[in-house]
Order: sequence, then C-alpha cells, then structure tokens
Amino acid sequence: MSELASIGVVGMAVMGSNLARNFASHGHRVAIFNRSYEKTEKVMAEHGEEGGFIAARTPEELVASLEKPRRIMMMVKAGAATDATIETFVPLLEDGDILIDGGNAYYKDTQRREVALRDKGIHFVGVGVSGGEEGALHGPSIMPGGSAHSYEFLGPLLEDISAKFNGEPCCTYIGTDGAGHFVKMVHNGIEYSDMQGIGEAFSLLRAAGLSVPEISDIFREWNTGELDSYLIEITSEVLDQVDAKTGKPLIDVVVDAAGQKGTGTWTAQIALELSVDLNAIAESVFARSVSSSPDLRAALQPLLQGPDQTIAVEDRAAFVEDVRQALWASKVVAYSQGLDLIRVGAKEYGWEIDVAAVAKIWRAGCIIRAKLLDRISNEYAANSLTNLLEAPSLVEDMGNVQAGWRRTLGQAIAAGVPTPVFSAALAYYDSARSPRLPAFLIQGQRDFFGAHTYRRVDEEGTFHIEWSGDR
Ligand code: NAP
Ligand code: ATR
Repeated sequence: MSELASIGVVGMAVMGSNLARNFASHGHRVAIFNRSYEKTEKVMAEHGEEGGFIAARTPEELVASLEKPRRIMMMVKAGAATDATIETFVPLLEDGDILIDGGNAYYKDTQRREVALRDKGIHFVGVGVSGGEEGALHGPSIMPGGSAHSYEFLGPLLEDISAKFNGEPCCTYIGTDGAGHFVKMVHNGIEYSDMQGIGEAFSLLRAAGLSVPEISDIFREWNTGELDSYLIEITSEVLDQVDAKTGKPLIDVVVDAAGQKGTGTWTAQIALELSVDLNAIAESVFARSVSSSPDLRAALQPLLQGPDQTIAVEDRAAFVEDVRQALWASKVVAYSQGLDLIRVGAKEYGWEIDVAAVAKIWRAGCIIRAKLLDRISNEYAANSLTNLLEAPSLVEDMGNVQAGWRRTLGQAIAAGVPTPVFSAALAYYDSARSPRLPAFLIQGQRDFFGAHTYRRVDEEGTFHIEWSGDR
C-alpha cells in the first residue's frame, strides 16, 4: 500500500483540483475524490505527473488512504451538494476526524452542520477560501472557522498553501463554528462595493468625455498610489481589451447586467438583521439588482426625465483627482462597514475575532487585496478601534479628501450620473459626524401614533405625552 495522504480533497472542479495541486506542490500527499470519477481521471491525466496524488474511486478508498485524524476538504457546490457530500462521508469517519467545507457556504448552514457533526465526535470546519482558481493554485487567502483544537491539526497545512504577504501566511484561525464563512461572506460584500465603486468612477470619467484608453491609463496611474489593489489593476486590463468583431473597447459590447450568487446579498441581509449600517455595501448589491432588471429598465429608461449624463469639465486633472478621492473615501467607508459587521457578528455569536488579523490575511491571495488593507491592519493593531474611521491617520486623510468627494457627487447629481456607492458612503460619513440626527423626529412621530415613548436629552427615563388635542 502507498504512503498515506495528509489530506483528502473532495470535488475536482476548478477550485478543488487547484487546491489539491497546491497541497501536492507543497510536499503534502493528497488524496482526491470526485462524485463522478471522470473529473478525478482528468486531473490525474493532466497533472498526475506533478506527483503527490492518490486518486480515489470511492469515498471508502479516500477515507482509507488518509492519515488519522483524517482531514477531508470538500470543495463542492454550496448548499444541497455540500449536505449530500457530508452524508456520504460522515458514516465513514471516526471520532476526532476533521471534515472541512471550503465552499462558499452560508455561515448559518455551517453553524448547523458543526453542531450536528460535533454530536458524532467529528470536527466540522467551515473555511472561507478566496482568490478564485489562480489563488487556489498559487496561494489563496484562507479564513478557517471550527474548533481551535481542529486548527492545531489543520492550520499548518492551510498556512502552507496560503498566499504570503511579506512572508506571513494569509491564513489565520478566525473563530468557532461559522466564523470563517461569516468573514468570507463579508469579504465578498466588500468585494461587491469595491467593484461597484470602480464602476462609478469609470462612469464619471466617461461622462466627462474621457475615452476608454484614457480611463485605463488613469486606473493604471491610480494603481501606483493609495488605491493600489488587485481590482484596480485588472480594471485597466479589462478596459484595454479591444473587441475583435467591432474594433471597439470590449466593455462597450458587454451587456450591462451583473448577476450574483448571493454572498453580497447575505452580507446586506445580516447587516439588517444585526442593525449594522452597511449602506455602501448594500447599495452595491442593489446596483446589481437594478442592472439585471431588464423589464424595469426598459419601462422607465424612455420615460424618466433628467440631465443628459455629461459633465462639462474645465480642469480635467482636478476633476480626475476629485473622482480618485471620492473612490478612495468610499472604499474606506465600505471597508469600515464590513469590519464593523464582523465586530458586531462576533459579539452576537461569541466569536473572538481579531479584526487586525482578518485585515492581514486579506492583504494577499484574495480578490480584495489592496494596499489599504496593510494600513487597516496596522491601524487596528496600533489603536483600540471600535470603527475603522476612528483611526487617527484616517480621520485626517478622510478630512482631506472629503471636499473632493463632495464636489464629485455634486457634479454627478447635477449631471444625472448614478453613484449609489459614493453617495451612500458619504451619507454614512455625514451621519456619523452629525451631532444630531433627525431620529428625534421619528421618535416624536412614533410616540404620537403608537405611544412608543421617547427619551430626553436632559433626563433619564422614558416619556410619553398626548401629542394631539388642545394646547
Ligand atoms: P462548483 O462548480 O461550485 O462545484 C462542482 C463540484 O461540486 C464538483 O466536484 C461536483 O461533482 C460537485 N457536486 C455538485 N453537485 C453535487 C452533489 N449533489 N453531490 C456531490 N457533489 C456534487 O466548483 P468550483 O467552482 O470549483 O467551486 C467549489 C466551491 O468553492 C463552491 O462552493 C464555490 O462557491 C467555492 N468557491 C469558488 C470560487 C471560484 O472562484 N470558483 C472561489 C472561492 C470559493 P460532479 O463533478 O460529480 O458534478
Ligand atoms: P473569491 O472568493 O475568489 O472572490 P467567489 O467568492 O467564488 O471567489 O466569487 C468571486 C466573485 O465573483 C464574487 O464577487 C462573486 O459574486 P457572488 O457572491 O455573487 O457569487 C462573483 N460572481 C460569481 N458568479 C457571478 C455571476 N454569475 N455574476 C456576477 N458575479 C459573479
């Protein structure tokens, strides 16, 4: 019999096969299995010579080929496929074995599965994996949940295959049960707002008459400064593509409707559930919804009146700089909202999440990797922050860019260019800095129509008065 494998990977689609190759290239013997054997055969045919694989035809063969305690990482479709795979493997496992779900599971499913398997003596570990297929192969950002005990056995393997930032692994233990998948969910929510914010910057530059190649160069330039990030970098490359059929920039012939698989929606839903203001991220989810509502758009587009969505610019360089500042400030707000959701989620579920460590493992490997994340992790490590916007250096920089951010939005609104993320982020910033919000009026109304009571600024207790009638 061949040497036992350190880890099993189940699900030989793009993510699973690339993760298996990543384990093998780091010297770990890896057993692989797929529900339908053809995918396993294909991996062996294409990559078998890389070495380190044991191809299992059946779940039993996979289990028999693993060291104990067994570590099995599932990379299958989230939802029913994950439940089916768990049902297949659980009867074959023993006390102390570790079953890992590396798919994009909903964290409440992970919590449910963890409880069910804990009763059977099996460690169920929900792991967020980000970085797409390239990341899975060369080093993803990894967000593992589950028991701290399971991390002792699993952590070193995951840290080995993760991306590295200045030599530090982009993988750290996040917290019990669904904590890893919760953090991955928020990562994706932030990703949505990053992508939408970039789209808004593009729309504004185009409305000001800049060509696609000119905008591509601007993004390339921005990528050398504070906005340095994977998404800005690839945006230039996306804009550079020319359509072979029409000779136009390819993006001009791409349908303007963005879909979603749901992680952004979950982020917004949980924010509502936990009463966290996450408006910039939520707007990025809604922006996808409106983009992919053809009936609504076809009905309203010819009817609704407004300016022609062009911006007359006198000083182009100054305008471009204002848009850059608006994009950077909105990004900071969206990150601060995402991290706030992690803080509140941790409190709700009893997870001890180290926000600085989360920001650290997002610095490489994942889709939202950005220069800003290094700064965020340093700010959290150096200061006792409740909210990222409290960080002294950010207070100063946000103060410096807010005038440009406001000018950008003034022009966007006057021209009728939609900027849901930029606008929501500024509304959040201004709400947070307002000494008094109009909620006092809501409280008056609520007490008027429902006797819901109100509190006073100058006295403890709750109060109710008869608002109507003679005075
Ligand atoms: P996928 O298309 O999401 O999943 C395909 C895998 O799921 C195949 O191995 C397939 O087996 C298996 N599967 C489907 N239905 C099944 C069922 N009812 N019972 C058992 N197995 C079933 O593949 P992927 O893109 O590699 O993603 C894998 C996981 O990683 C997903 O949860 C995804 O959300 C997550 N993820 C993906 C990315 C990405 O960039 N793609 C990034 C991070 C995380 P058969 O071959 O037998 O159908
Ligand atoms: P990663 O962890 O590497 O970011 P991912 O979470 O599987 O990989 O998805 C990558 C991004 O592609 C996410 O923003 C995802 O959005 P969903 O959460 O909505 O899936 C996005 N994505 C995947 N399929 C998509 C689709 N059909 N339309 C638009 N965005 C999609």
